[in-house]
Formats: sequence, C-alpha cells, structure tokens
Amino acid sequence: MSQLAALDAADPLAPARARFALPPGVVYLDGNSLGPLPAALPERLAHTLAHEWGKGLIRSWNDAGWIDLPVTLGAAIAPIVGAEPDSVVACDSVSLNLFKLASAALAMRAGRTTVLMEASDFPTDAYVMQGLAGLAGVTLKRVPRAELVAALDDDVALMLLTHAHYVSAQLHDMAAMSEAAHQAGALTLWDLSHSAGALVVNLDADGADFAVGCGYKFLNGGPGAPAFAYLARRHWEAAQPALTGWMGHARPFDFAADYAPAAGARRLLTGTPPILAMRALEAGVATFDGIDLAQAEAKSRQLVQLFAAGAATLPGVRVDASPQGRHGAHVIIRHAAARRVMTALIARGVIGDMRPPDAMRFGFPALTTRFADVGLALTAIEQVLASGEWQDERFAPKGVVS
Ligand SMILES: Cc1ncc(COP(=O)(O)O)c(C=O)c1O
Repeated sequence: MSQLAALDAADPLAPARARFALPPGVVYLDGNSLGPLPAALPERLAHTLAHEWGKGLIRSWNDAGWIDLPVTLGAAIAPIVGAEPDSVVACDSVSLNLFKLASAALAMRAGRTTVLMEASDFPTDAYVMQGLAGLAGVTLKRVPRAELVAALDDDVALMLLTHAHYVSAQLHDMAAMSEAAHQAGALTLWDLSHSAGALVVNLDADGADFAVGCGYKFLNGGPGAPAFAYLARRHWEAAQPALTGWMGHARPFDFAADYAPAAGARRLLTGTPPILAMRALEAGVATFDGIDLAQAEAKSRQLVQLFAAGAATLPGVRVDASPQGRHGAHVIIRHAAARRVMTALIARGVIGDMRPPDAMRFGFPALTTRFADVGLALTAIEQVLASGEWQDERFAPKGVVS
C-alpha cells in the first residue's frame, strides 16, 4: 500500500466524505472557495419546497421555525467557532456583517478615529471599511502584519483581522492579538471566512469582541450562502449596529414606529431571512455533526504539507515558505502561467482556483479531501507542466470568477 493509501485507510475522518455528493472522477480542492453539496440537502430542500412552502405556505414562518432560523442556525454554528449559542446569528453576507459590527464598534469607542487592518487582507474587508470610514468620519489605516501591534495607539477604535489569510493561510494568534488590542483600548473584529469549519476557533475563550464568517466555504452552505456574525456576550447591551432593520427589532411584529434593538446578537439581523438558502446552510453546518475540529485541523495541515512538499519539486513551481506551526487549510503554489495551468488542471478534473498574477490555490478541507487526492493532484500538475498543454489556446483566460 502506498503511503497516501495507508494514510487514508487509517484516517478517522474518512467516513465524513460520504456526507457529500461529490462528482466521480473529480479531485475537488476548492472547498475553501465553495464547499461541495451536502448529500442530505436535495431531500431536505425538496421537503422545504413541497411541504413547508408548498403546503404550509405562510404558516411555516411559525410552524416550520422559519422566523427563528437565523438564531437556531447561529446556535448550530456557535460550537464550530467556540462561541456560546446566543452570540451567533446567521444572516446577510460577510460584507454586510462587517459593516454592522464595525459601525457598532466605532460607536462604542467614540472619540477614537482609526480603524486598523492588515494591508493585504481580502478586498471586501477594506472596501467596507473605506465606505464606513467616509460615513463615520474615521480613517482606515492599513499596515503590514509585522507592524500591527506597534500601530495600536490610543486612537485605534477597532482592529479588523482575518484569522486565516485568504492567500498565505497564515494565522493570527487570536488570544494574543485580542489582548494587544484591548491593552490599547481598542476592540477586535475577526473575519473567520477561511477558518470557520477548517480550524479550531475559540472566539469566547480568546477574547474576541466581534466576528464574521462565510457560509459557502468550509461550512458547505452553497453558493452565496448566508454568512454569520458573532457578538461577545459582554457587548450584547452596548453594541448598536448602524444598519438596523425590522428583524433586529425587539418586537418586529408590533410594527412600532421606532427602532428598539432585540436582545443579544439578534439585533444584528436586518431583513427577512432567505429561507431556502438558510435550509441549505443548515445542511452544510450539519456535516460537522460529531466532528472533532482539532482532528480536522490536524488532517488539513498534514494534507497541505504533503502537497506543498510535492509541489516544490515540480519544474517552474515555487512554494512560499510554509508558515510555521498552525495555518489555514489551503496553500498557494506559484507558476508564471498560473491561470492557464489552473485552467488545464480543471479540464483534467483537478479543481483549485487562482489569484493573480501567479498563485494557484488549493484547499484541503478535512471532511472531503482524501490523502490520495494529494497524489492525484500532484500527478496532474506534473503532467500539465511536462506536456506543455497549458500553452494551448483552449486554456487562454476567459470568465470572471476565478
Ligand atoms: C476573507 C474573506 N472575507 C470575505 C469574503 C467574501 O465576503 P462576502 O460574503 O461578502 O462575499 C471572502 C471571500 O472569499 C474572504 O475570503
């Protein structure tokens, strides 16, 4: 038995792959961008369509628990990110949730005029902060990772950090950075898009103030799935998000003239929840039932390291120095013709994605990735490079989603 086959045979998480409907013949290494379809979802969604909507009609807001889905689903996500159930709600997008929580943080630190973030973080985080900064009359300061702590002066209201970086997969020490921010009198907002469901996350224990995360990546909630938002218990009363809608009202069905915030994280809700998408996210979150996230994180790390070591031996491929210790569940390898090479790989059924100009990104979620996939992907990359097929016109760039 090969080394990879032996690792699969001994893998306690191997049975979890059956929780997904993965197409045969595909090596799917992009669950960090869009998680695969949960096997239980088509039937669950068919039930929601035929019974809850079809027969129950509007009664299902109560009878099928639709109205509470943002909070019941939030409570199901909570243990995945180390939070108490009532501190998490499922709603809106990461972008919108960033706005809501950052606006609440700025109001809680009135007089301070800086939002601090890491210069290379995911664009939407910066774009949302730029929009908010204009509105709130504050300044967005972006610095390299190594300069974050030194930049925490007494004007910083909020430090926004991505827990696992979307390119490098480098991880911030959540407890240490939260502590540093608090020492300076600032609050912290964590983007967990690349860590929720991939890594052990301890929001409550590590002193996070606010957090957001993605439903469609490692949580397997489907394309454009609702995101989630976290509000630490100690801020339940003080946090007043600037985006206020009726679903975040204390008594939405009183139809009162004025806004009054609901208790706890529920005040982060805005409009009517998208029930079909919520049901899909519910099935995605259920794929984590009984999963030990420490075990999942360790498996992903091993997969990443095996893949990176193999890729580093391929001609024309450069692998950035692997981060020491813990890191996210994806890895970047670089090639001058990354887009074409990735397109050729996808044509062979090995699916990753790319980030311009030269990065190919491969994700290794523990529930769906086999050790054998590492071997299959490396062989495919080797063949694409050796054959020179990536230079073929078929693999010229087209489309906008990468
Ligand atoms: C770190 C990070 N934040 C946010 C997003 C996307 O946010 P939204 O759900 O608003 O599209 C992504 C998407 O890839 C991401 O990687």
